[in-house]
Amino acid sequence: MTNWKEIDKKAKEWVNEGGQRIRESFNTTLSIQTKSNPNDLVTNMDKETEQFFIQKIKEHYPEHRILGEEGYGHKIESPEGVIWIIDPIDGTMNFVHQQRNFAISIGIYEDGIGKIGLIYDVVHNELYHAVKGEGAFMNEIPLPKLEKVSVKEAIIALNATWVAENRAIDPKVLGPLVRDSRGTRSYGTAAIELAYVAAGRLDAYITMRLAPWDYAAGLILLEEVGGVATTLKGEPINIIEKSSFLIAKEGLHEEILNGYILK
Ligand code: IPD
Ligand code: CA
Ligand code: CA
Repeated sequence: MTNWKEIDKKAKEWVNEGGQRIRESFNTTLSIQTKSNPNDLVTNMDKETEQFFIQKIKEHYPEHRILGEEGYGHKIESPEGVIWIIDPIDGTMNFVHQQRNFAISIGIYEDGIGKIGLIYDVVHNELYHAVKGEGAFMNEIPLPKLEKVSVKEAIIALNATWVAENRAIDPKVLGPLVRDSRGTRSYGTAAIELAYVAAGRLDAYITMRLAPWDYAAGLILLEEVGGVATTLKGEPINIIEKSSFLIAKEGLHEEILNGYILK
């Protein structure tokens, strides 16, 4: 039998230790490289942090599989068994340029079902944490169920990319939503944007393409507080695939999907 209490305790310990290591790296010179394009950054700390988690998981749970952004885990093609989905630093561009607004994100799934979600905003020392069926917390403070809100009172996380000429969406689609909402924000870290929706600091988050490591932990938090997550077509999310995202409070999700995106 899987001992989820023990996994949860260890995952929290490791996330805190990983955060401490990242804080210490602020006094060192980072080695920065680019990946798929000149703005897709990766540092030695992204790689070292992922390797740190993988080493811990392999030592304690050799039968678990790992899907890590930097590629040190396994090649995952199906959701069977226990899978740790890890983004060692979500918001690397912020980490490099601003030394804030980045997070460690770890989602632990069993047979495709989210069990434990951890998002650690390292600089603000805010640990968002959820265990399936036991609620979501920020630094052990319970996050209340999300309340309903309409577009005109909503703050929506949205990157300006999606209202400028781009390859993923007609820029005219989201313009009216930007105009009608109370305000928009962009933090440059999907994990924190998801945690903020779960914490009620944002009412919705829209983006065109996220990978499992960006959203795995956030979806578990969101489910515990009654948030809704689908693709921009309104379809369910497949946890091992990349997809577009509309994440929002109940009611608001439908208002945005049917009133703006699919209109
Ligand atoms: C990125 C951030 C960003 C999102 C990108 C992600 P990374 O993750 O979450 O907010 O818009 O799609 O790739 O590369 O900093 O881990
Ligand atoms: Ca990421
Ligand atoms: Ca990352």
